[in-house]
Amino acid sequence: MTIHHFGEGNSLLNKFISEIRDVEIQKDSMRFRRNIERIGEILSYEMSKSLSYVNKTVETPFGKKEMHLPTDNLVLCSVLRAGLPLHQGMLNYFDGAENAFISAYRHHRGDEDAFEVIVKYFAAPSLENKTLVLTDPMLATGKTLENVLSALKDHGVPSQIHIISVIGSRGGIEHVKKVFPDNTHLWIAAIDPELNNKGYILPGIGDAGDLAFGEKL
Ligand code: URA
Repeated sequence: MTIHHFGEGNSLLNKFISEIRDVEIQKDSMRFRRNIERIGEILSYEMSKSLSYVNKTVETPFGKKEMHLPTDNLVLCSVLRAGLPLHQGMLNYFDGAENAFISAYRHHRGDEDAFEVIVKYFAAPSLENKTLVLTDPMLATGKTLENVLSALKDHGVPSQIHIISVIGSRGGIEHVKKVFPDNTHLWIAAIDPELNNKGYILPGIGDAGDLAFGEKL
């Protein structure tokens, strides 16, 4: 897997990441969602540089201009519900992409900290020969992405797989590296050192779904 980590350099991305981390600023859920969306836009732009391009002639009011334009048939696939703002950011830029949605949740037995990831709702087009872009805003254990990949198995073989993520843990990224094909690309805004015993990224941001959409029972 090739990892493209943008949090190490200086760019406007750092401002958006610091705002979603900031315990005061993140209370403004509209700003939180929009910041995640903006991160999705920036990562999509960066990812777009790795797609395939062909020459096409564009007709302007005054003449013709040769342009290099992307040719990939993209399928953007997100996990409900935390993935929605990131998905929207990507769709803002890849406006012709097809879309897939999966619901996954962490199932804890009783009071146990340990959990399994359960995949339920699932709607996806054919992936055969397409460029699959999986979004996971918080790449914590990597188990959600692993389960999503296996849920998509019957939908055809994509020609390429990209993963777009806001914050990942080192261990989660190692897990994804093991279970995804070698030619997968990960586009990620920040990498944090570890997880707590409930599987949350430290220092991370907290619960991305709750921050975007409110607490659940
Ligand atoms: N999901 C979240 O929302 N936050 C984390 O830190 C890990 C997984």
